[in-house]
Amino acid sequence: MKAQGIDVLSFAAGEPDFNTPEPICRAATEALQAGFTKYTASSGTPELKEAICAKLLRENGLRYEPAQIVASCGAKHSLYNALMVLLDPGDEVLLFAPYWMTYAEQIALAGGVPVVVRTSGDEGFVPDLEAVAAAITPRTRAILLNSPSNPTGAVFPRRVVEGLAELALRHDLWIVSDEIYERLVYGVRAVSPASLSQEVYDRTVTINGCSKSYAMTGWRIGFAAAPKAVAAAMSNFQDQVTSNPTSFAQKGAVAAFSLPEEAVETMRAEFEARRDLIVGLLRQIPGLKVPKPDGAFYAFPDVTAYLGGRIPNDAALCELLLEEARVATVPGSVFEGPGHLRLSYATGRKDIEEGVARIAEALAKIAP
Ligand SMILES: Cc1ncc(COP(=O)(O)O)c(C=O)c1O
Repeated sequence: MKAQGIDVLSFAAGEPDFNTPEPICRAATEALQAGFTKYTASSGTPELKEAICAKLLRENGLRYEPAQIVASCGAKHSLYNALMVLLDPGDEVLLFAPYWMTYAEQIALAGGVPVVVRTSGDEGFVPDLEAVAAAITPRTRAILLNSPSNPTGAVFPRRVVEGLAELALRHDLWIVSDEIYERLVYGVRAVSPASLSQEVYDRTVTINGCSKSYAMTGWRIGFAAAPKAVAAAMSNFQDQVTSNPTSFAQKGAVAAFSLPEEAVETMRAEFEARRDLIVGLLRQIPGLKVPKPDGAFYAFPDVTAYLGGRIPNDAALCELLLEEARVATVPGSVFEGPGHLRLSYATGRKDIEEGVARIAEALAKIAP
C-alpha cells in the first residue's frame, strides 16, 4: 500500500526507530578504515568478550569470564545455538504464551517440542507457577523465558523468576533467558535468573545483544553467557555454521557496551513517554482492555469486544484496520495470543496520536 502512495501508519516495527548512536558508528567506521575486516575468533574477539563480561557484571550483577561468552549474529542466533546444543530429539521446552513466534520454530528446528503455558492479561501476562509445574513431564528439558516480553511487554516479578528457577532446580531443567529488552523497562527492573544463586547460574543460558538497547538491529550482534561446557559447545557449533559475527560490527558493539548511561537512558525515557501516550489513548477506546506494559516497546490490547460476525478474529480486525484506517498492526494470534493486537510504539509520538485516532474512528463504526 505504501508503494502505491497510500499513507499507512505502521505499529508493526520490531525495532527502535532511533539511529544507532554516533560513537558506535564511528568505532565501526574506524575499524573498517583500519582494515579490521578479517575473520576473528568464531565466538568473538577477546575485546568484545571482555566488554560483554564487564556489562554483565555492571548491569546484571553476573560474574562471567570470556570463556563463558559466545558473541553471535544477534540474540536470535544465540538462542538457536543454545537450543541446538541443549536439546535432544523429543525434548520438551516450556514457553509462555503469548510468545515471540521464533521460539516455537527454533525449538522445533532443534528437534524439540514446544510446550506452551498460557498467561492472561488479567494476570499481567505473568506465568502461574502451578500451571508451569503441571506442564513439566519427564521429557521437559528447559524453560524459556523472555522478560521483558515481546509481544506483551510483561516484566516478570522477582518472585516469579525465583519460582521458575526453583522448578528448574527441582526438575533438573535448563533455563534459557532471553533478556534482549532488559534495558527498556519503566519503573521496574528485569531480574536475570542467573543472578539468583550459583545453582541457578549453573543451569542458565543468558541471552542478550545490542539490537534493542542500542538501536543496532541491522548490525547483528548478540551474545550468550553460559556455563563453560555449554558455551564451548555453542562456540563449536557456531564455528561450523557461521563463524564469527562481522568483525567491524564487533568493534561497534564494544563501543556500545562502553557508551555512557545517558545515551541509553535518553532512548529508554522516550519509549516510556510513548508507552504512557499510547496506553492512555488506547484506553479511551470503548471496549478495549489495555494493560500497561512494564517493558519492551509493545502495547498488547485485548480486542475481543470487537470480534464476531464479519470480523471473526484478530487477523480479520488487523486486515480491516489496514484497509479502512490505513494502520498496520500485528494480530495477537501470530504470538499465540488470539483476541489481541500488538502495537509497537517504536514510532514517533505524532504517528502514535494519528494512528490511534484512526483506529478509534474505524472501531467506532463497528461498535464493541
Ligand atoms: C524477544 C526477542 N528476542 C530476540 C530478538 C532478536 O534479537 P536480535 O536482533 O539480537 O537477533 C527479538 C527481535 O525482535 C525479540 O523480540
